[in-house]
Amino acid sequence: MELDNFIYNPTQKTILDNGSFTWKAPSNIALVKYWGKREPQLPENPSISFTLDACHTETTLEFKKREKSAEISKLESDATFAQSLTQKEFKIDIFLDGENKPEFRKKIVVFLMRIGKLVPFISDYDFVIRTHNSFPHSSGIASSASGMSALALCIMSMEKALNPDISDEMFYKKASFLARLGSGSAARSIEGPLVVWGKHNAIKNSSDLFGVKFTGDLHDKFKNYHDTILLVDKGEKQVSSTVGHNLMNNHPFAQQRFEQANENIIKISEALKTGNLKTFISIVESEALTLHSMMMTSHPYFILMKPNTLEIINRIWAFREETNTNICFTLDAGANVHVLFPDEEKETCNLFIMNELIQFCQNNHYICDKVGFGANQIKPQ
Ligand code: DP6
Repeated sequence: MELDNFIYNPTQKTILDNGSFTWKAPSNIALVKYWGKREPQLPENPSISFTLDACHTETTLEFKKREKSAEISKLESDATFAQSLTQKEFKIDIFLDGENKPEFRKKIVVFLMRIGKLVPFISDYDFVIRTHNSFPHSSGIASSASGMSALALCIMSMEKALNPDISDEMFYKKASFLARLGSGSAARSIEGPLVVWGKHNAIKNSSDLFGVKFTGDLHDKFKNYHDTILLVDKGEKQVSSTVGHNLMNNHPFAQQRFEQANENIIKISEALKTGNLKTFISIVESEALTLHSMMMTSHPYFILMKPNTLEIINRIWAFREETNTNICFTLDAGANVHVLFPDEEKETCNLFIMNELIQFCQNNHYICDKVGFGANQIKPQ
């Protein structure tokens, strides 16, 4: 599907003066990782993720028609311009858990400018965004995937209100497209339980522009899969994902890495179908370590894992060897560890996590999550 299909083109136009929409959107954890991108926020390789359930963002977008349209949709994304745009020129207030956060405004304005050509009606409104994350802001869990996805869905609800003819299929595809422009991995935070983002010949309808639900056969073992997130380090990341992605340009191992990710998509699709957990584990853990080895071998190089990250990994390996369970780990761009295991092993794995792993978490903090089924609109009561 081409870019032009996503440009707002109403077949009928309803009047929409003011109102609000609320969406709850999930976080996701990649099994095959996205690391490396090109303009405009397109992935260098396809990725696949589990949609999560407990970790989510709930966002309400309130809108009110302006007297005069703001100029945002005519301009390309420009951080300096976004900074200079006053509240009078484009009014947007952001509240996180009821607290006004003017420091988030620039990021949101840059995002709205980026998507302005696709949803030009946004320049006709003033906005208030009220958002809440189910996980603590200082947990080291990125809120950009669920946050951008929830906001993109609210904007799509505006589009649907203005143009009721838009199909459900297009609604979700375009929501993913818009979310991607806010944060790449957000493209995978619309549907569930598994989403592929990035063109791969073996994945029907896959695209670099938006995420698609994984429609391959899924073995029962992967239903209700658990992800317990061990919060090893709740601090701000020393290196942002965007900087990390850019370091894949001119990275000595970039091409091999992108090829490997393409191969891993095929291998993991097969494991998801047959229920071969040994293969699943070897791909997922190798992907996590490859992601971090890309960081360690870029210029400048950096390490996001902490000593406790390695302690946890070693304990997981020893326990798996000892018990022949199917517990495994993955990492995102930080020190926290996602511990994955099938539902049928939850008693053994939970006990092990409590007895042996929680001690390596900051203030013993962890989040029990599992595979989820995608975003939901919250209707006003
Ligand atoms: C390591 O989506 O956070 O979590 O597109 O710059 O916003 P931007 O980056 P982001 O990168 C996520 C990288 C990752 C792997 C993954 O989720 O696939």
